[in-house]
Amino acid sequence: MHAIGVDIGGTKIAAGVVDEDGTILAQTRRATEPDDAASIDRAVADVYAELSQSYEVQAIGVAAAGFVNSERSTVLFAPNIAWRDYPLRDRVRALLDDDVRIVVENDANAAGWAEFRFGAGRAVDDMLMLTVGTGLGGALIVGGKLVRGAWGVAAEVGHMRVVPGGHYCGCGHEGCWEQYASGSALVRDAQAAIVVDAERGATLLALAGGDAQDLTGPQVTQAAQDGDPLAVDLLAQLGRWIGEGAASVAALLDPALVVIGGGVGAAGDLLLDPARHAFADQLSARGHRPEAKIMLASMGNEAGIVGAADLARI
Ligand code: BGC
Ligand code: NA
Ligand code: ZN
Repeated sequence: MHAIGVDIGGTKIAAGVVDEDGTILAQTRRATEPDDAASIDRAVADVYAELSQSYEVQAIGVAAAGFVNSERSTVLFAPNIAWRDYPLRDRVRALLDDDVRIVVENDANAAGWAEFRFGAGRAVDDMLMLTVGTGLGGALIVGGKLVRGAWGVAAEVGHMRVVPGGHYCGCGHEGCWEQYASGSALVRDAQAAIVVDAERGATLLALAGGDAQDLTGPQVTQAAQDGDPLAVDLLAQLGRWIGEGAASVAALLDPALVVIGGGVGAAGDLLLDPARHAFADQLSARGHRPEAKIMLASMGNEAGIVGAADLARI
């Protein structure tokens, strides 16, 4: 049977009809406002109405960037979206004409599940997925199972403290891993670097159209691929934060594979090589234990849609 997966991002939602092999049969998207929770509800209902016209679907999986409860119905908290104890499932339900099954999942859990079932993690039973975007999301597969924790909010690795007294985080604490290993961190550091050293930042500033505030992550990645030394350094720094943190997770969970997803994956080895080095440097008992591989996600932007749909069926 088919299910619809809906991936809610900061500024848009993407949705698709997915079959049981993880293939997307049809896709659509809508623009949303991260500060306006009701607009997100309406967009979810709207993509369902559109996609269910041509396909019979069994369930809707909604991937949300926040802490989702174990009933998979409420977003308890979201650092980067206006959800506080928000009954997302019931709000969407109220907008639908039929009683299709609706399941809310954490966005990174959805992406990680898709990579595990159909993508980079197909061959392993123990993996860590990191989604590097506005925030840093995590999914843990241990012994072939998605780890949800006692209350549904396991694997919120982006909020492990890596720098005492470090940058403020949307979760209310300081020094969280996502303040160093995310697309937002990359852009923040790039903007600061442009101000500190105008000569070194000239290429990035030009790409941003002359105003550092308009710089985007993809522009930094593009500049790095074109060989801009500052952009290369910034991506290497991001890679190091990813790799070091992954080594701490390995101390706890011993995954066979770390999968890195998100737009920064486009940087390829410019990100991966520093991540692998930092992981190796920081890994305890190195040389006396098998080491996790670090790989890029293989399902691209569609992983959230596919994983949310798949998880909605089970
Ligand atoms: C949130 C997670 C989410 C991640 C990626 C973090 O800030 O706490 O729930 O999975 O961002 O969107
Ligand atoms: Na997660
Ligand atoms: Zn945090």
